[in-house]
Amino acid sequence: MSTVLVLNGPNLGRLGSREPDVYGSANLEDLRLLLSASAPEGVTVDVRQTDDEAELIHWLYEAVDTGVAVIINPAAFTHYSYALRDAAALVTKAGLLLIEVHISNPHARETFRHTSVVSAIATGVIAGLGFDSYRLALDYVTRER
Ligand code: DQA
Repeated sequence: MSTVLVLNGPNLGRLGSREPDVYGSANLEDLRLLLSASAPEGVTVDVRQTDDEAELIHWLYEAVDTGVAVIINPAAFTHYSYALRDAAALVTKAGLLLIEVHISNPHARETFRHTSVVSAIATGVIAGLGFDSYRLALDYVTRER
């Protein structure tokens, strides 16, 4: 049995009601169900969300300490949190997979969203495909783990 951590940053707890024109009408529980249904036999998908930068960082330490792959939507932290980037780098430096995902395509939006301080240390990036961004990331990490 192995686990994949699916970490979500600030404001993603409001999926479903937050800007449905951008993020759709499905919520985090729908994401949890989708990923659990998509996970291969023997893989547990642990979907978490926090608005707290420190908590997100501590979950990345947990991934390093327990040796699990990470799918992360850092939300707005993507664009400016060097602290999150440094913690995410610990994951990939430990030889673990870390896929950065986004529901929307940040490059097609406001200029401040065009910068990701996380992408350079991520294993890969998937953006703009709605919840399929997570599903494709899960497919990759469960094949590569
Ligand atoms: C997001 C894109 C970010 O720019 C934004 O701050 C989010 C969500 C996405 O999934 O499309 O909160 O990461």
